[in-house]
Amino acid sequence: MIVEAVKWIGGIDGYLELIDQRRLPAEFTRLKCRDVETLFETIKTLAVRGAPAIGVSAAYGLVLALQKLDASDSMEKSLEALKHAREYLASSRPTAVNLFWALDRVWGAASPVETLQQLREAVLREANAIYQEDVDMCRRIGQHGEKFIKDGAGILTHCNAGALATAGQGTALSPMFEAHKKGKKFKVYADETRPLLQGARLTAWELKQAGIDVTVICDNMAGWLMKQGKINAVITGADRIAANGDTANKIGTYSLSILAREHGVPFYIAAPSSTFDLSIKSGAEIPIEQRFAEEVTTFAGTQTAPAGVNVYNPAFDVTQARDIAAIITERGVIEKPNTERVSEHLA
Ligand code: MRU
Repeated sequence: MIVEAVKWIGGIDGYLELIDQRRLPAEFTRLKCRDVETLFETIKTLAVRGAPAIGVSAAYGLVLALQKLDASDSMEKSLEALKHAREYLASSRPTAVNLFWALDRVWGAASPVETLQQLREAVLREANAIYQEDVDMCRRIGQHGEKFIKDGAGILTHCNAGALATAGQGTALSPMFEAHKKGKKFKVYADETRPLLQGARLTAWELKQAGIDVTVICDNMAGWLMKQGKINAVITGADRIAANGDTANKIGTYSLSILAREHGVPFYIAAPSSTFDLSIKSGAEIPIEQRFAEEVTTFAGTQTAPAGVNVYNPAFDVTQARDIAAIITERGVIEKPNTERVSEHLA
């Protein structure tokens, strides 16, 4: 059974229910988000994370923003509140383009309407559509990507691009779920993914729940596993893909792509079309989130570096298109991505 990371409960007066991913795997708890400020905080602190899940949550955040309004409020005031919430949520995390994509889509669906009731309904309808499309896209990514998982293979993944990171069954993990359904036997190596351990905490948890053979490794072990021939493919998700196929994903992905190139291991990206940003030509233009020093200087609450030491903590890096064997989307596969092939695929 696929976990539901993000779920809207009820109608226009409803709320957003999220699995609190900060507490996994020790505790499985759900959060109820009833206002935009709480949602902002859950995105910022990674209670909900993963590019598609952030996008879907933010879309529902605009439904929450409209709940604060009174029936007597003018349309101008209502649209102003919506615009404010859109800008506020957009400032929560800078790299995953799905966030801006979803907010823009809901904003676009907000007119033309005449009453607050119609506005609320239009916004919820669009958020539900984004949710449902994400569920479908995830499944199709799995169906297109499953062929890259050969019987007996060793697959390496980084961070978490599973059900917890989407509304559906994930992106990078989706081909694994599909291959497993078909009865293929394979082994997944999950990079622990410092500093926040999304691989060890979330990917290992999800795959174990699904009965898929998963082994956690520290990030610095991947090269040695490749050298030993244990890895036949690397599959990761993406936070933003530029027009030329350069791909931002969790910090450490770039290093894996270089290791994969050196060892002749194919490197795949799995992502929905909502993760492409055709407004930027290459990965050099992707904004990279810088996060708090404490994420690096502490481990599970224990200080592991001297107080006050300088810290550099970029949350993402960019893998060059030339090192990507293929990008798997809900539409199919872009082999050896470049500007022409990406644009053809998305046309
Ligand atoms: O900082 P996070 O946990 O939000 O980073 C998530 C990733 O890098 C994922 O690989 C990416 O968002 C794809 S999720 C389907």
